[in-house]
Amino acid sequence: MEGYILEWLNLFGRWIHLITGIAWIGASFYFIWLDNHLEAPAKDSDRERGVGGELWAVHGGGFYNAQKYSNGVPAMPPNLHWFKWEAYTTLITGAFLMALIYWYQAEIYLIDPGVMALSKPVAIVLGVLTLVVGWLGYDALCKSQLGQRENMMALALLVVLSIIAWGLCQVFSGRGAYMHFGAMLGTIMVANVYFVIMPGQRAMVAACTDGRQPDPIHGARAKQRSVHNTYFTLPVLFIMISNHYAMTWGHDYNWLILIAMSVAGALIRVHFVQAHFGKPSPIPAGVAILLLIGIVTAIAPSPRAAPDSTAAMVTLDQAHAIIQARCTACHATVPTHPGFAAPPKGVVLETPEQTLAQATSIHQQIVVTRAMPIGNLTGMTDEERTIIDRWYLSSPVAGNP
Ligand code: HEC
Repeated sequence: MEGYILEWLNLFGRWIHLITGIAWIGASFYFIWLDNHLEAPAKDSDRERGVGGELWAVHGGGFYNAQKYSNGVPAMPPNLHWFKWEAYTTLITGAFLMALIYWYQAEIYLIDPGVMALSKPVAIVLGVLTLVVGWLGYDALCKSQLGQRENMMALALLVVLSIIAWGLCQVFSGRGAYMHFGAMLGTIMVANVYFVIMPGQRAMVAACTDGRQPDPIHGARAKQRSVHNTYFTLPVLFIMISNHYAMTWGHDYNWLILIAMSVAGALIRVHFVQAHFGKPSPIPAGVAILLLIGIVTAIAPSPRAAPDSTAAMVTLDQAHAIIQARCTACHATVPTHPGFAAPPKGVVLETPEQTLAQATSIHQQIVVTRAMPIGNLTGMTDEERTIIDRWYLSSPVAGNP
């Protein structure tokens, strides 16, 4: 029953997280696009009213004419729309999912004894600390001298984030490390909204209400943080889907792949931001594509040597016996492993026929990425992995005559 409830909590949490995340990032992309496309106001009267830029658009059956007041408004409008709950609810639902999956079920998803044999409380405390200390460190960096120099700040972030990515991958399971890295960036993004961007906007509104000129420092601070937020977006989105791709987080150099993918994501965003102004340099997108091609090639499985003909053939029955001992507790129509109500990902490995039919993905999970058994909860030995490898390489059905 517990497993069943966990599944529903997971589904509802993820559903809402996705919806609010789309609303948040969608609005954020839209406003950056809007800001970057503004043109000087056509009418002098608009300029005199304080309009700094405007834009015409057509969408969903109507024409829209957006105008941006750069230095406050002449009179406060009766209804002013704010954009903040999209970000906050994304953080709240994200924290819920993190707690439900990676902390409550830390022994399955966060701890990998092959990486570091953490106790559950220690793993959870380290996970929470990653998010809190990540924000505090980032915020201090932004407020320091370095924070005032955009390029130096980008370099500093790259170095610090690389160290954190490396560190997390020495402590947590690959997928747990990735998810904590992504959650840390996501937390920074929402904290930027809550602690910097929103207070700045409140001060701006208060100044306009009192008929004062808003202090430009609020705008400058908010600008710095929203620039960072936009470049964090693509890396965070990659990380949120990365747990489906064990070839990334399951690799020996998983931390390097994480950083390279993140840099590629940030550079692609740079390209789009530049493209809004109509003249993108080919360098960011070019470097991003080269990086992605580099990763794809670098982690491609190397061609395997032909199986040793002197070694005894591994039969399907022998292979399936191992699968039954190490996998079927979870991968059964009715799993016996606590916490599982249904076979994970619908993968059922109860009969030799099922094992044979899924030989390629079994080999991928056991030998190539070593992602399974998850958290090595059933204590699979390296010897057993080698036997599965030999079976797969000599199995005609697996395409290895
Ligand atoms: C303790 C439970 C558990 C055990 C034992 C286990 N798995 Fe899994 N398996 C999971 C979970 C959970 C997932 C889903 C992971 C995810 O959400 O990405 C999964 C997913 C899979 C997938 C699908 C991967 C994908 O991304 O499509 C395969 C294939 C798989 N396991 C094979 C195995 C094999 C082979 C073994 C035995 C060596 C094994 N599993 C042992 C829990 C387990």
